[in-house]
Amino acid sequence: MEKIVSLCKSRGLIFQSSEIYGGLNGFWDYGPLGAELKRNVKELWWKSMTRLRDDIVGLDASIIMHPQIWKASGHVDTFSDLMRECSVTNKRIRTDHVEPESGTIFRFPGAESAATGWKSDRQIVLLQKKGEHPDSIRKRARQYYVSGNSAVTIDAVTLLGETTEPVENSVDFHPESGGLLGESRPFNLMLKTYVGATATEENVTYLRPETAQAIFAQFTNVVATSRQKVPFGICQVGKAFRNEVTPRNFTFRSREFEQMELEFFIKPDEAVIATEGEVATVAAKGHPGEPQPNWGWQAWHKYWVEERMRWYNEIGLPRETLEEYWQKPEELAHYARATVDIMVKFPFGSQELEGIAARSDFDLSQHQRFSGKAQTVHDDDLRAALTKLDPAKQQELRASYFAARKGYLLRTGETEEAATKAAGEEADRFLKGYYVPHVIEPSAGVDRLLLALVCNAFDEEEVPDAKGNMEVRKVLRFSPRVAPIKVGVFPLLKNKPDLVKKAYEVRDLLRPHMSVFYDEKDAVGRRYRRQDEAGTPFCVTIDFDTIGENGDELKGTVTLRHRDSMQQDRVKIEDLIGLLLPQVQ
Ligand code: GAP
Repeated sequence: MEKIVSLCKSRGLIFQSSEIYGGLNGFWDYGPLGAELKRNVKELWWKSMTRLRDDIVGLDASIIMHPQIWKASGHVDTFSDLMRECSVTNKRIRTDHVEPESGTIFRFPGAESAATGWKSDRQIVLLQKKGEHPDSIRKRARQYYVSGNSAVTIDAVTLLGETTEPVENSVDFHPESGGLLGESRPFNLMLKTYVGATATEENVTYLRPETAQAIFAQFTNVVATSRQKVPFGICQVGKAFRNEVTPRNFTFRSREFEQMELEFFIKPDEAVIATEGEVATVAAKGHPGEPQPNWGWQAWHKYWVEERMRWYNEIGLPRETLEEYWQKPEELAHYARATVDIMVKFPFGSQELEGIAARSDFDLSQHQRFSGKAQTVHDDDLRAALTKLDPAKQQELRASYFAARKGYLLRTGETEEAATKAAGEEADRFLKGYYVPHVIEPSAGVDRLLLALVCNAFDEEEVPDAKGNMEVRKVLRFSPRVAPIKVGVFPLLKNKPDLVKKAYEVRDLLRPHMSVFYDEKDAVGRRYRRQDEAGTPFCVTIDFDTIGENGDELKGTVTLRHRDSMQQDRVKIEDLIGLLLPQVQ
């Protein structure tokens, strides 16, 4: 990981944010190469979601939205980590990050300084660190007594006694300070701000912690304007912010990051049964194929898991580098029917790259309840199909829809009576063709994906240099589709105007179609190595053959060098675009 962090900095992929001021924990900047890489990844995602499909449209919503959105989504009340505070340093730690420790607990009832008359009867409780000498823990205790108190020095302080007690596998001590931890308390991860001239509670808003909610909040507008009919999706790429308590593993867990989220709206299974007779069964393995009218939520969920896996493969993360983790029933959010985490192997372990959740009709239902605006769609075919069903089947579907809606309303805290009444009305409307769409949500992090791509692409190998001596070649084996620079263009020598002129011509020919890096500094071998480190899949060198100095046979041809194999081919300049473009797009 250290090598990767260092390469990211030295090649201009990722820098620490605000580095000249000492950095800001959890924030990162993308340098010239990183910015290109990020753009390519987002562009490929956007293209695969919107331009290559008829059933998904895009959205670009504001980061700050009405605070009620975060009430409705549950983020205000439940988007929190449980934290514990160290009683000696006041440092917080996530409750689930405290590892069990065994050792001896030292309790110090107070301390005093005879020289100044200073005295404290604060109790300090510390866990003796493994192998730590008792004098060292006493010194640490004295340090904690005097910290923040300029009137006394550590040497002038004596402890007013101590008691000890052995402990096994305790999770009550801070792993760094050894100080006793306080109770677990929820700590909301949303970054708060104020909109308007006064910083009062009424003006509190939040930087969005996910892009998804804007999609739900704009659902009815998109339906009204896009001519899309369920099943269809709305996708968005954009910044999200979370005040992560322990940002870590480079960009993996940041406080500002980007998400690429799709909310794919589907019919409730009752509606599919009404129009198609039954819901398709889904094979446990493999891609379910092209979408079919009889797909229920399970088929759609499986479809999106497979589609996302396919996309990762296309951009250079082969299936064997990924894993599907199907969340266990007890791990699922209360509204989720199934969630698959796509896991990827990082040097610090296998971690979530994307979550694909079947979220039932929870999100639109919440916004319907909080905004008071219907989030239902009307389906003429459904209404027609329902009227043709025999009354028993009609009632069976009504009862199933009613039970789901009542269950949701009861979970929101409605009384039995109110939930029965409201669900009954909704079930009656269902028989007229109205329903709240369900959702499948593939939600990916751009920054995590970039890190996965860099980790996966990073390679070091021993190769002979120009003199035949072995040297280590660092190479980023990015898929050409995501590579920040697609092609390096070099004149063999920089002091030969005819070579330079021709190289400029080749650069200008390629530039409108792909990102090109022109380089004339140092020997060509060194230039190849620099592009290897930047992950550039192709390099083109213009030499004396190109300009016809050695006869006409190779005039108008260049050397095309391939990053991974280091193989060099002779190709015609006029064939370059046709050769490269299909590989880099
Ligand atoms: N709308 C659902 C949602 O936001 P999530 O699992 O919290 O779900 C989705 O986030 C994805 O966003 C994650 O799989 C991850 O790739 C990315 N992500 C979440 N928190 C992140 C963080 N602190 N830093 C970087 N990426 C993060």
